[in-house]
Amino acid sequence: MKYVRGLVNLTRRMPMVTWLVGSATAIWVLFCVLVGMPPVVIVLLPLVVGGAAWMINRLVNRAETSGKRQGVVLASSTAAVVIVFGLIQLIPYGKDHSNPPVLAEPEWSSPETRDLMVRACYGCHSNEVEYPSYAKVAPISWMVQSHIDEGRGQVNYSEFGVSRGNYRETIEVIQDGSMPPFYYTMFGRHPEAKLTKTEKATLIAGLAATPGLGDNEHRGDKGAKSNDEGDDD
Ligand code: HEC
Repeated sequence: MKYVRGLVNLTRRMPMVTWLVGSATAIWVLFCVLVGMPPVVIVLLPLVVGGAAWMINRLVNRAETSGKRQGVVLASSTAAVVIVFGLIQLIPYGKDHSNPPVLAEPEWSSPETRDLMVRACYGCHSNEVEYPSYAKVAPISWMVQSHIDEGRGQVNYSEFGVSRGNYRETIEVIQDGSMPPFYYTMFGRHPEAKLTKTEKATLIAGLAATPGLGDNEHRGDKGAKSNDEGDDD
């Protein structure tokens, strides 16, 4: 309660700071959600920046107590943003833009099927990822890397039959529009991954004719009990 009242008083004393910090935070959160930033980063980074701003502000205020309070707070906040964003560039996660070797791919029904999959899905579900240039800058690099790590963990079309995954959901996720994720094509990124209606239909037909993708093969064999397991050869 005491802290809430303190905070309210602070916002009254510093309307400009409140307004600027508030809108910067809102823009940050909106941007992050639209590009698919991991939630931990969305929350932690502003806290670190806030902590740094508080420390800088204290150091400066100790040095000279006179002058405009709001100006000092804004300058400290700006410095904190610059320092924190500079320092996080030193964190190695997301820097190593490596691609493990391609082990095995599905037997694509046609080169066109593969081409469409490469355009829409290989950015996260393959060992042939083409890293965009902006993926060098943290925290964007962390975001890109986390999508690739998570994506490869689910299905990796370069390790088909080698890594486990929900390969049979390939058609389903394209049909229901959940893949590629909406954030992948936000802000004009990856226009090649935006398939037209016709391309989507072509891809789905091509996948249905590709063994191991989609659950279509099982729909036909009526009467046969589920023999997904224990069928070794
Ligand atoms: C931006 C990276 C990205 C792209 C591009 C992408 N995916 Fe994904 N995919 C993910 C992530 C992350 C997950 C795991 C989290 C989730 O399910 O949202 C996932 C999950 C999946 C799953 C498992 C779903 C489940 O519910 O088990 C399948 C299947 C899949 N993707 C297929 C595709 C296909 C097919 C495409 C292309 C049409 C594609 N993905 C494009 C990142 C991506």
